[in-house]
Amino acid sequence: MYCNAQILEVAQKETSKISPSEGRSFKAALIICVGLFIVGTVALFMSANELPESRLIYVENIQSNNANARVVSCYYNIPDRDNSSALLPNSLHPHLCTHINVAFAPIKDKKIILDDNMIKTIREIVNLKSQNPELKVLLSVGGAGNNNGFSEMVVDHASRKTFIRCIKYILHNYELDGIDLDWEFPVIHNIGGDLAKRERQHFSQLLREIRMEYLRERKNYLLTVAVAAQQVVVDVAYDVDQINLYVDYANIMTYDFHYYTKFTPFTGLNAPLYARQSERFYMATLNINYTVQMYLNKGLDESKLVVGIPTYGHSFTLVNSQNANIESPVSGFGQLGNLGFVNYPDICKFVKSNKVTVNEDLYAKVPYLHYSTEWVSYDTPKSVMEKAQYIKKHNLRGAMIYSLNADDYLGTCAQLSDNIRFPLSESVKNSLLV
Ligand SMILES: *[C@@H]1O[C@H](CO)[C@@H](O)[C@H](O)[C@H]1NC(C)=O
Ligand SMILES: *[C@@H]1O[C@H](CO)[C@@H](O)[C@H](O)[C@H]1NC(C)=O
Repeated sequence: MYCNAQILEVAQKETSKISPSEGRSFKAALIICVGLFIVGTVALFMSANELPESRLIYVENIQSNNANARVVSCYYNIPDRDNSSALLPNSLHPHLCTHINVAFAPIKDKKIILDDNMIKTIREIVNLKSQNPELKVLLSVGGAGNNNGFSEMVVDHASRKTFIRCIKYILHNYELDGIDLDWEFPVIHNIGGDLAKRERQHFSQLLREIRMEYLRERKNYLLTVAVAAQQVVVDVAYDVDQINLYVDYANIMTYDFHYYTKFTPFTGLNAPLYARQSERFYMATLNINYTVQMYLNKGLDESKLVVGIPTYGHSFTLVNSQNANIESPVSGFGQLGNLGFVNYPDICKFVKSNKVTVNEDLYAKVPYLHYSTEWVSYDTPKSVMEKAQYIKKHNLRGAMIYSLNADDYLGTCAQLSDNIRFPLSESVKNSLLV
């Protein structure tokens, strides 16, 4: 099922009903919006696709409730219900995260597609709010490898309008708190071309139009984005100052800095906090600290900056088991995980059943291990705590966790004496929300 034309009509009728008490301020809001619309239309004619500055200032003043409260924003991937060991919504801890992003709904034909499992999952996650009324639940749209739907949809005003109606319908119908856009990535298929510039601008326009629609509806819905960490992508994909105007906060995907590809056949760290001592130039940009400082320099407010923390690691197969440092030659992904993506409990099991050698880079502040030709970069409760402390020290908004599903939700990693489920997410939460 998805938000087709028929459903949209119903949604439109519903949202056009105004209660008498709301009528007056609604009128005022309407006038502002109409005014903005006229200014917007004129501006659109004046300079195609350029966003006039004067219009943006208005939006900047929007503050949702709790605008400065710390965020622990957790991605929860739709479970495969045929798999008896998959993480189901009723196994989630309702106080583990401040925000849960249900991921990912694809875009097709300018609309958001929700299948039955997705709908069921959304409802179950929203139900967690009966146990934690403060919890916010968002629907995350897009995800890695789903960029085509975005490209088609952002291209003109009419398409974006269809998409925004769809968002409104879904937020209203499933009682969600907001939408998270995860377009990976605007323009990347045509770096430097004219199309690149337009996609970047169209993305900003989409964010502005969604924010305007929230205002028009007088709803406190959230609008967040998941954005790239690597500067080569950020430079072409986003107008960071524009994103800053319209989103409640941005989840920065500060991980996958190093993993195996044919072009990078070397060991490397998934999510280093700082550059290593020997790293120079481009290599010294592939870490959390560099990314955070870059986003701040590009105009993302510290109160809107949410740092991504992975609960998975990356595995590699060493060419020579005696050569197991960082930047050692590898022949491919490791045995562990799927395409080198290893969930935390699988790392714990590997550590428990083999005499692994664990090292930690003093500067990067993350561990890596090897055993025979298997080499893994990963995070631990300690390394994610360091990242949480960095977030506090720099007064950033909070942490994003990708993902709850990759964390140790069964308590596999625990020693006999304790029984901690979600040890990485718990560590982040406990370090941040005190
Ligand atoms: C079932 O889920 C577990 C936990 O996420 C995963 O390790 C396993 O590979 C899955 N099994 C199948 C057949 O997909
Ligand atoms: C963090 O990044 C900033 C800006 O790039 C840099 O000046 C600073 O030295 C970095 N901190 C560490 C500990 O590497």
